[in-house]
Amino acid sequence: KRVQVVIIGSGPSGLMLGHILHRAGIDTIILENRSQDYVLARVRAGLLEQGTVDLLRDNGLAGRLDREGLVHRGMALAFDGERHRIDLAGLSGGKVVTIYGQTEVTRDLMDARAASGAPTVYEAEAVTPHGFDGEAPRVTYVKDGATHEIACDFIAGCDGYHGVSRASVPAGAISTYERVYPFGWLGILAEVPPVDHELIYANSARGFALCTMRSSTRSRYYVQCPLDDRVEDWPDDRFWDEIRRRVDAPTAEAMVTGPSFEKSIAPLRSFVAEPLRFGRMFLVGDAAHIVPPTGAKGLNLAMSDVRYLAEGLLEHYGERSAAGLDAYSGRALDRIWKAVRFSWWMTTMLHRFPDQTAFDQRIQEADLAYLVSSEAAMTSLAENYVGLPV
Ligand code: FAD
Ligand code: DHB
Repeated sequence: KRVQVVIIGSGPSGLMLGHILHRAGIDTIILENRSQDYVLARVRAGLLEQGTVDLLRDNGLAGRLDREGLVHRGMALAFDGERHRIDLAGLSGGKVVTIYGQTEVTRDLMDARAASGAPTVYEAEAVTPHGFDGEAPRVTYVKDGATHEIACDFIAGCDGYHGVSRASVPAGAISTYERVYPFGWLGILAEVPPVDHELIYANSARGFALCTMRSSTRSRYYVQCPLDDRVEDWPDDRFWDEIRRRVDAPTAEAMVTGPSFEKSIAPLRSFVAEPLRFGRMFLVGDAAHIVPPTGAKGLNLAMSDVRYLAEGLLEHYGERSAAGLDAYSGRALDRIWKAVRFSWWMTTMLHRFPDQTAFDQRIQEADLAYLVSSEAAMTSLAENYVGLPV
């Protein structure tokens, strides 16, 4: 069997790339090692940049997003007992962000792929890219005990941080850059109305907290927690007591609590691999980079990588030009490092670090005080938060 592009991984980046290529008449197969239900049930990101919404809309994927997504024109920072609103739209020339869960993005993309008839193999075992350094790459996998081989022109490694694509690159051909943060995020979902119609990022002596949402009746809340905590350590009552102590008093009073129906702990990491092209294989999304969630950049960066790579592949097949593919790694990394910088800065400014000195503490307070008193600083925050241009 032969296709033009083998896509490894059916997360948001693999599905989005497959959709754009299919619309352009380029044939693909997606190989995913988990089941479709497992991929759909993974609760992750929730906030889409304007550019991500535009990409979905331009590709005919925004029907439900336009009906159900919540458009946000601002967000708030809470610290030192006060809440400060940042006018994102006013400071960014009218750009907005949209709350629409990654689970919903994934569902819309999977529905579109099913409707297109393009193939996806779920529960594909031992997916392995071969020969991407030469002219005839191929990918093998095992399904129901049988080994399959697919020849192709290109391999798109959209298989996340733990995927096989980056792991298949010889160590001498790749550089990696990493920072691991000494805390995690405990997140819950609950069927209660959000405490505010916009997001609240809180810095407190007890650690970071984030109030976000999935709809007008469903809330998502996060608190910074020690890395070795387990979800069993956090019954709902303890979670609600803790988050109310980390936000300003009016927010704590307004918060509606209730039973959680999802609870998980995620570690925080910054990671970048360079380059993103190895002959005829490309790394895309979390396979190439991880950001801590504080800036809401992970899913959005995956989507801008897809846009750059899709442009390159369309140029290759349509105009017989290698320019777009040759430029992919550099163009994507330029935007990636800016988002890595922003996510690191938001994380550093808003969390309590175990080894934080009194000096570090004062710098953090000054960073926040300067931010909310300076239109220049708020403009920079807004420009990055709504998403840098693609
Ligand atoms: P993924 O979504 O990871 O998709 C990769 C796919 O490849 C998966 O379906 C995986 O099963 C599959 N795969 C892996 N290995 C193989 C293999 N060997 N063979 C075949 N298939 C394989 N971002 C935010 O902005 N805000 C958040 O709050 C947030 N929370 C997160 C919480 C968690 C626990 C995690 C892990 C991530 C979170 N992110 C968040 C980041 C965001 O979800 C990711 O950036 C986004 O999912 C990236 O999409 P992707 O398609 O590149 O990778
Ligand atoms: C969400 C998660 C984030 O990390 C963030 O910065 C904003 C929103 C969310 O899950 O809604």
